[in-house]
Amino acid sequence: MRFSRARARMRSQLIAELLRLASRPDVLSLAGGVPAPELFPLPELKAAAQRALERHGAAALQYSPTEGHPVLRRWVAEGLGVSEDQVLITSGSQQVIDLVARVLLDEGDPVAVELPTYMGGLLAMNPYAPRYLGVPADARGLVPGGLPERAKLLYLLPNFQNPTGAVLAADRREAVAEWARERDAVVLEDDPYGHIYFEDPPPPPVFSLAPERTVYAGTFSKLLAPGLRVGYAVAPVELIEALAQAKQAADLHTNILGQAIIAELIESGAIAPQAERVRDFYRRRRDQMVSALRRHLPPEVRFDVPAGGMFLWLRFPPGTDTRRLLELALEEGVAFVPGEPFFAADGYPAARLTFASVPEEAIEEGVRRLSRAYVRYLEDPGAGRDLALGGE
Ligand SMILES: Cc1ncc(COP(=O)(O)O)c(C=O)c1O
Repeated sequence: MRFSRARARMRSQLIAELLRLASRPDVLSLAGGVPAPELFPLPELKAAAQRALERHGAAALQYSPTEGHPVLRRWVAEGLGVSEDQVLITSGSQQVIDLVARVLLDEGDPVAVELPTYMGGLLAMNPYAPRYLGVPADARGLVPGGLPERAKLLYLLPNFQNPTGAVLAADRREAVAEWARERDAVVLEDDPYGHIYFEDPPPPPVFSLAPERTVYAGTFSKLLAPGLRVGYAVAPVELIEALAQAKQAADLHTNILGQAIIAELIESGAIAPQAERVRDFYRRRRDQMVSALRRHLPPEVRFDVPAGGMFLWLRFPPGTDTRRLLELALEEGVAFVPGEPFFAADGYPAARLTFASVPEEAIEEGVRRLSRAYVRYLEDPGAGRDLALGGE
């Protein structure tokens, strides 16, 4: 087959391989990135679907405007204090990343990304062949002093970052906004986890500090259910128009029945209590994972306690071979995501664990198996067999 050049940039062998390994029945997976299915509000969704179909009939199944359902657009606009024509409803926030890349990036354009960042974001941008410039990050998020002299786009995850769990500090948000203004760069602020806070809500978004040069991406995936595939972009009107044209070419519009169901939930006041439920649920699981890690893992394996979101990021001593560790972990019956694919440039040995979709009783056992694997690794750090993880 004579594929396009873009096709060659779409490979995601590592993720596919990991998902395969982690789905073995004997393996307890701390690797996934999916929400807990117990949190999907099934009775409310069923009732909302019924109401949507009764109220709108065939219109809930017909082609519909690219910009999205007016109730959703209004809800998003009110949340950020902007006008509705600054909102585009999308097929998940993943589509926002693709659309932004489509309308802004030419081959070789410099794109600043956090080290580490969401690997799905890199996968979405890869076909457009940007030149990634890595920006270091610490416990307070991206380090503004590490931002490049010049970039067309900054892909930023300010809240409970995937994979690190870090929150970008308020003063650093100001610095990012200033940098974007000075360098004439656009910030793509990807925020699927901001509403999953365990203590205080995160600081105001970069969008509120530099609304003229930020695309804010949000989603109903972690609040309601990812299978609905409903997310949104908020941006200056000129950019929203460009994104809407790109979206029209890509998929015409976002699944309208899904949007109509969400509109019913918004109008019946079901969103706020659901958000509360999500926070309480994940807070308990976070606590459990943190206490298991403190009991079982040696102190040289470091982590910060995430104040929200779905992930916990382990940092191993320099030189640790996390592929070898993963091989041993799989033998012990536990999976994690090695840090490597989250780094667009040089990284360090790390592992992403999720506490979101792991049943409470399995968290303790998973961590125990991981610590057994680490002890075995220390005894025999020899080269791992080729797990076919990567090869790119
Ligand atoms: C940082 C980040 N951005 C975007 C997405 C995509 O989410 P969705 O397309 O379901 O809104 C995810 C999903 O895990 C994510 O972690």
